[in-house]
Amino acid sequence: MTMRDVLIYPDIRLRSVAEPVCEINDEVRALVDQMFDLMYARQGIGLAATQVDMPLSLIVIDLQDKSNPPLVLINPEIVEKSDAMVNSEEGCLSFPNVYVKVARVEKIKFKAQNLEGEWFERETDGLLSVCVQHEIDHLEGKLIADYLSSLKKHMLHKKMKKLKKTVL
Ligand code: NI
Repeated sequence: MTMRDVLIYPDIRLRSVAEPVCEINDEVRALVDQMFDLMYARQGIGLAATQVDMPLSLIVIDLQDKSNPPLVLINPEIVEKSDAMVNSEEGCLSFPNVYVKVARVEKIKFKAQNLEGEWFERETDGLLSVCVQHEIDHLEGKLIADYLSSLKKHMLHKKMKKLKKTVL
């Protein structure tokens, strides 16, 4: 299988919209393993398949706390949202060393399939709620930069482009 890496903003492929996962086969299982490896190597808590140049509706999450075991969300969808909002500083593996204040709904109910293909529903708030919303944004090609004012987004875009050139 191809070795994958996390795409870095402003890579245009981060704007891909994910297609549903139709069949949970060996290829999907291998992708999930690779995504967990990459996420742990970069010390992230969530990673969407679109971030590794694989536009499939697939997310891995590990908040690294005992009450929240690692999660694989296949074809995830938010089915209910609270009215209350929360602000938090969000990082993203596609934006190294960048934090953006994002307002999101506080509580969500989401549904997804697990690796066995079974659908489940879960209500959540706190960090898991923020993380699921952030990762589902990725599946729609939406990024934390999109929550900035256009001036700040422009500045970040320039900074990241420069950074990428230096690294390469
Ligand atoms: Ni992200």
